[in-house]
Amino acid sequence: MTEHQRPRAFATSRLEEADGEGLNPTANRTMGEIIASRFSRRDFLRGSLAATAIAATVSPAALMLADEAKAQGAAGGSRFAFKEVEAGVDQTHHVAEGYDADVLLRWGDPLFSDSPKFDPTAQTPEAQARQFGYNNDYVGFIPLEEGSSTHGLLVVNHEYTNEHLMFPGIVQVVEKPDEDDATKMVKELEIAPADQKRVDIEMAAHGGTVVEIRKDEAGKWQVVTDGKLNRRITAGTEMELRGPAAGHDRLKTNADASGTKVFGTINNCAGGVTPWGTYIMAEENIHGYFMGELPADHPEAANYKRLGIPEGTYAWGNFHDRFDVSKEPNEPNRFGWIVEVDVMDPNSVPKKRTALGRFKHEGAESIVAKDGRVVFYLGDDERFDYVYKFVTAKTYDPNDRAANMDLLDEGTLYVAKFEEDGTVNWLPLVHGEGPLTAANGFNSQADVLIETRRAGDLLEATPMDRPEDIEPNGSNGRVYVMLTNNTRRKDEQVDAANPRAKNAFGHIIEIAEEGGDFTATTGKWEVLLKCGDPSVAEVGATFSTETTKNGWFGMPDNCSVDADGRLWVSTDGNSPSGTGRTDGLWAVDTDGEARGTSKLFFRVPVGAEMCGPLILDDMATAFVAVQHPADGGDDWEGFGRLSYYEDLSTRWPDFDDAMPTRPSVVAITRQGGGRIGDA
Ligand code: FEO
Ligand code: CA
Ligand code: CA
Repeated sequence: MTEHQRPRAFATSRLEEADGEGLNPTANRTMGEIIASRFSRRDFLRGSLAATAIAATVSPAALMLADEAKAQGAAGGSRFAFKEVEAGVDQTHHVAEGYDADVLLRWGDPLFSDSPKFDPTAQTPEAQARQFGYNNDYVGFIPLEEGSSTHGLLVVNHEYTNEHLMFPGIVQVVEKPDEDDATKMVKELEIAPADQKRVDIEMAAHGGTVVEIRKDEAGKWQVVTDGKLNRRITAGTEMELRGPAAGHDRLKTNADASGTKVFGTINNCAGGVTPWGTYIMAEENIHGYFMGELPADHPEAANYKRLGIPEGTYAWGNFHDRFDVSKEPNEPNRFGWIVEVDVMDPNSVPKKRTALGRFKHEGAESIVAKDGRVVFYLGDDERFDYVYKFVTAKTYDPNDRAANMDLLDEGTLYVAKFEEDGTVNWLPLVHGEGPLTAANGFNSQADVLIETRRAGDLLEATPMDRPEDIEPNGSNGRVYVMLTNNTRRKDEQVDAANPRAKNAFGHIIEIAEEGGDFTATTGKWEVLLKCGDPSVAEVGATFSTETTKNGWFGMPDNCSVDADGRLWVSTDGNSPSGTGRTDGLWAVDTDGEARGTSKLFFRVPVGAEMCGPLILDDMATAFVAVQHPADGGDDWEGFGRLSYYEDLSTRWPDFDDAMPTRPSVVAITRQGGGRIGDA
């Protein structure tokens, strides 16, 4: 969410990003050649700028990357042929002409045959734990028959809760002097303090859902409410800490002397499905769930500061000691990990895989490399934080699922350094190597992993503009990195990989690993797109000239590569006052003459963010997640005031006065059948 758009009072219920300057205290800022970084290499190749002015700054590596991309694409044409949606803002969703977009799962929908009927005025923690959770984010699909795109398990993260939209009778609109201009008054939402029941409903609405779904004979998706593998995972589900940090003293608490048993997962943003069919949930903005003050001179103080812990957004610590750092000072070290769930056993204990590091994990999409090892790409979503990848030590065995189940406990975590000459170097975060020694407070690999950010600082990784989803593309050997925005980057902090100061609209970086080998420790990189309105020169957006007024976007967040290797990008932060459009799902050409062309395929209702895009392998279904609809409305002329439970800017998807708005997963299919993205 862009700063200008963030209604003040919502900051308390919104955990997308830490406010402030970012939490990276280092000077790992490549000052760079300002001229070089102001103009993308693509601009140069297109001849749109005076070549002589920047020729010396364009690396041979980067030139090769763009040329290869052009050669790979079809001559001239876009790989998407659908009729574009018109960008704009209203109360409902819109999909490209000729497609159906059907709501499949709403907050509160039953997941089991005995699930209580959803009643938002009489919700209980027990009912919520048997119903679809709140704020659906990542969406994945695990087939129940080999290769099926019509019957499988849908896995969905529930990132966080918005009290002002969920609970009746807790909001008052108050007028207060403007913090920036005391002569002005502004309206704010005041939310009544939470009691234990509300907290426990929130905890049950977090986590994830595993649910069987099936496409019926009419081509419509149905939820199988008595599916044997259906499951809710919540902020209270028992989990096991695994890998090099498991059992370390820094992970031990009053409740768990072993340092291996933890309850719950929180703020699960994006995620992944592994090649062996497990479900990955990434723990992102964990800082808001902790409150209290650490005991004086506590050894974890610097570690927590680097992550913004505790922020005290949620009141959970008032009722559950483990979320109060004055009572359980080590508990935050048990969050911020990648969680792996074996969905084929509904009673399996999810594993927190410490080998993949601890930070504000956006997601973990993976690919099997040439030699059979598996590579996971990981973003740390904070201003000026880093891009990572993890390479398993052992190889994936496609014929032995059991042999793959602990692949994530052993491997090498790397952090990215984007050099000015268009190379990227992946620097290993290995205890004892380089500065990662006892002299710097790292006594073991466990210490390196618990304080992954500080290890990255010492290796002089490149501070990025909020790394979100990262997705490898097996079709062209590339990797796409979403960098959503960073309005705090100053002119002197600009570098080649983060080429805009006050980067309000974000950009996308494309990486080509050396030799097409995803395990490589070096590669080439290039800015694929600088986002924002290309008709406003100062924005410096680089969408192709084929991109229409509907086709550009700001704030790339989640992404997906379909089975044909085409890139889909969903956004978080477009707004009536900011970009004159809601968030949505855009199709982006990456190859050929159409490279950099974007088209709007689906858009969300007012106030919502677009999450979870997934195109099934048969290309006949796209799933998208509409997160926090109605979260906002005061900057939209169609509503013009703050939105909350009793007075919502949209009651999507039910449009029933007795129902609040409900975050939902939507299934998109082509009328009469056919491939997503075609005409
Ligand atoms: Fe939860 Fe970084 O988006
Ligand atoms: Ca996200
Ligand atoms: Ca987001």
